[in-house]
Amino acid sequence: MSESKRLFEEAQKVLVGGVNSPVRAAIKPYPFFVREGKGPYIITVDNIKLIDYVLGYGPLILGHAPEAVVKRVIEYVGRGWLYGAPTEVEVLLAKKIISHFPSIEMIRFVNSGGEAVATAIRLARGYTGRKKILKFEGCYHGAVDSVLVKAGSAATHFGSPSSAGVPEEVAKLTLVARYNDLDSVERIMREEGNDVAAIIVEPVMANYGVIPPRNDFLKGLREIADRYGSLLIFDEVVTGYRLGIGGAQRYYGVKADITTLGKIIGGGFPIGAVGAREDIMSKLSPRGPVFNAGTFNGHPISMAAGLATIEVLETTNAYETALRASRKLAEGLSDVLGRYGIDHVVNWVPTMLQVFFTKGEVVDHETANRSDVKMYVRFHEELLKRGVFIAPSQFEAIFTSAAHDDSIIDETLRRVEDAVRSIVRGPP
Ligand SMILES: Cc1ncc(COP(=O)(O)O)c(C=O)c1O
Repeated sequence: MSESKRLFEEAQKVLVGGVNSPVRAAIKPYPFFVREGKGPYIITVDNIKLIDYVLGYGPLILGHAPEAVVKRVIEYVGRGWLYGAPTEVEVLLAKKIISHFPSIEMIRFVNSGGEAVATAIRLARGYTGRKKILKFEGCYHGAVDSVLVKAGSAATHFGSPSSAGVPEEVAKLTLVARYNDLDSVERIMREEGNDVAAIIVEPVMANYGVIPPRNDFLKGLREIADRYGSLLIFDEVVTGYRLGIGGAQRYYGVKADITTLGKIIGGGFPIGAVGAREDIMSKLSPRGPVFNAGTFNGHPISMAAGLATIEVLETTNAYETALRASRKLAEGLSDVLGRYGIDHVVNWVPTMLQVFFTKGEVVDHETANRSDVKMYVRFHEELLKRGVFIAPSQFEAIFTSAAHDDSIIDETLRRVEDAVRSIVRGPP
């Protein structure tokens, strides 16, 4: 029996579904267990070497265990790591992020993207004195009650819970519009705008595959939010430092009122952050009445790993390598699938992409839902057999890192072609 299989059997007795986050259980017939990661590779407990395009679901933009981060973490961990008192590295990381995001004057560090979102929503409500928020169908913002909400019945724009345990009363405070469709936002805001504390959006939808914003979608949101006195929250947990230094706000030239960050800013260690102008941030405790606190907030090891990661991005060609890898992979995937006559769309933004097996363009949740999800799962399985790890779910992203040099992408594309050939031919 493989070691992964044995461990999964053990894990299922003590961890719900054998995992601590559900997508990890989507690898069939059982998830591989990881022994270590190095550069672009994961090595499993059965000694299988995989080229990794999941990268911890986004944070590892430098690849696994990059030397600069390892060194910095060891340096910091040797001094002790938790004091219930502030440390200098929190100030250093905050200054660094503020220097890259013109919309951010102050920051609060928390421990996950979800916590950042929960805090941002509470802050928006506290700042505006309004209760409702507007989100987009298909956008994911973490395991947070007020955003675990999907569109309700067609007759209403009030949301309904997308998880058991989220009260209807909470979901009703969340209005749900359609991504890339400003008319749907305008319709809701015309009726509800004066009660809407914030519009929250993933500037690139990265949790329904990868769906970039069309033309003036983000600019339009900015304009609508201003018109109704609502705050605009950009959830940049994925896009922050992935679309480049300055995140989606610099890339698309639109400023948010509140920004949530996570993933890359902790270099792969647990982190989340809320950032905004001082007049908004000053509403947070201890300066203001909106509560936020956390034993692990501003954890020095996460701060140190994040700072080391951002410094590498600033001072080397790491980002260009990750960017080139994503472009080459997107073009290569499209080329292979095209040559084998498979209907597909590859959506790309810098350092992330996803393939959808469908004819039409994918611009929102509805068009994404038209894609052949079974085909995607098959594609994932055939790639995994050939030592290439992409997410097991269509509704995740393929990420690249600075460790994915040209030779890794070339090797990946050879394996992609082999996988596609076997899918087209069917089982021998
Ligand atoms: C856009 C976005 N926001 C928030 C979150 C939640 O972050 P975390 O998993 O760190 O709580 C995620 C996680 O994938 C995300 O993709």
